[in-house]
Amino acid sequence: MGPREQILELLKGRSDDFVSGEELSEQLDVSRTMVWKHVTSLRDCGYIIESITGKGYRLKGLPDLLLPSEIKRDLKTEFIGQQIHYFDELDSTSVKAREIAADSPDGTVVIAEKQVGGRGRMGKAWYSPHGGIYLSIILKPEIPPDHAHRLTLVSGVAVAEVLKELGVAAEIKWPNDILINEKKVCGTLTEIDAEMDVVNYVAVGIGIDANIELETLPPIAMLQATSLLEEMGGVVDRVAITQRFLERFERYYATFMDAGFSQILRHWREYSSTIGRRVKIVTKFRTIVGEAVGIDHDGALIVELDDGSVEKEITGTCFHL
Ligand code: BTN
Repeated sequence: MGPREQILELLKGRSDDFVSGEELSEQLDVSRTMVWKHVTSLRDCGYIIESITGKGYRLKGLPDLLLPSEIKRDLKTEFIGQQIHYFDELDSTSVKAREIAADSPDGTVVIAEKQVGGRGRMGKAWYSPHGGIYLSIILKPEIPPDHAHRLTLVSGVAVAEVLKELGVAAEIKWPNDILINEKKVCGTLTEIDAEMDVVNYVAVGIGIDANIELETLPPIAMLQATSLLEEMGGVVDRVAITQRFLERFERYYATFMDAGFSQILRHWREYSSTIGRRVKIVTKFRTIVGEAVGIDHDGALIVELDDGSVEKEITGTCFHL
């Protein structure tokens, strides 16, 4: 921990009290001028620090930012998010993840407060204003490349569980949209870099509409999307949600690697609102309509068409009819 973080820790521990510049400088063994510089840099990050001559400094407010120092504090993971690259604005965390993946350790996370080129599934854009949670996790699993899409479902189960703990009845629409009252609040984009039979890395990108005013979304998104702000009737703690997600993701990722995908599917089915529904599935090649009757061992949706025949799709856009 550097002196800046140590100052923050000391102020946090005594937030109803002033801590004198002298005490900070003694405890950290740095000059009073350096204490002032670190306080200024914390203020630049959004921390509200009051200073009164003769009394010292007092922490009055935390920034509503997904700062690595905040996320790593009390983060209960072994490797996911132990390294975080943070940006106020990015084109897309998925693009940044791809750029840095080769030199990054397993579990590295890329976070942006805002994306100007956010990417969704099936070539769609992902609208990413301030207030959302946009992150990509770089993973280096020893799995066959054609199993990588399964990580999308790992992520979906982790998000659904976090939202359930927040008291929100979240459901998963196949393959991986997280819905609240049939409106989308989160999506996952999984991208892979692989040789014939070796995965170099997988980047799992998730976007959660957290503190987003629905009126600020483009009209088409406004009809289909919702946000935690809207559903919970108030601002949510994005740092806590990010921490809980990274923890759940690590746990389900371990389940996936050690116990197998069938265990993930078991949880996925519990949260899914697609099975038993009449659906339309649109892929690049065809559109099918019928009843979603199950999900197979690989995560493919099993659809019984109106003529009684049974079809499977491993990817596509699903509409609940
Ligand atoms: C979807 O279409 O449902 C997937 C949306 C995925 C959005 C996330 S936000 C973080 C990461 N960076 C991106 O550009 N996309 C993903």
